[in-house]
Amino acid sequence: MQAEQRKQSKFHVDEVERNFVLLSIVLLIVFAISVAVGNLAYNIGLPEPAGRVDPTKLDEHLQFGKPVEERVRELAPGKYEAYIIASKWKFSPGSTNFGQKAITIPKGSTITFYVTSEDLQHGFKLLGTNISFMVLPGQVSKLTATFDDPGTYQFICYEYCGQLHHNMYGELIVEE
Ligand code: CUA
Repeated sequence: MQAEQRKQSKFHVDEVERNFVLLSIVLLIVFAISVAVGNLAYNIGLPEPAGRVDPTKLDEHLQFGKPVEERVRELAPGKYEAYIIASKWKFSPGSTNFGQKAITIPKGSTITFYVTSEDLQHGFKLLGTNISFMVLPGQVSKLTATFDDPGTYQFICYEYCGQLHHNMYGELIVEE
């Protein structure tokens, strides 16, 4: 009887297995700390959803419903906002390959991008920067950035969205 009890209460974990479990726990803690430090000390955060929209009624939206050339505006000196609609296979405004004007700001300006999709899932990645976020129908993605270096920046769609996905891009020009 005693011997049987002892056998039941003894729960054997292999040493190697135990070490892996401990290592996984340590890694989780390290990751959690690095996310917290990145967010609090370096202000690295995920782009937040900035509201919801009805993708079938974007033309009625206060900002997305404006004519494409009015969707970039200067709010204050050096402070801009851009309301961009992603669709198969362009960004409006910004897709110069579709005859639209590039989004143009002077250097040192801060611009807030509001991006939504009117059809399916797209991506928004500004090459040469760490700006990158997903664009979903029904949701507005928002991100603010300051551009000190003049040049032409391309923003591309990084989520596969069909036949001409590779041709889906727009341009941001930062002027001297
Ligand atoms: Cu839009 Cu890929």
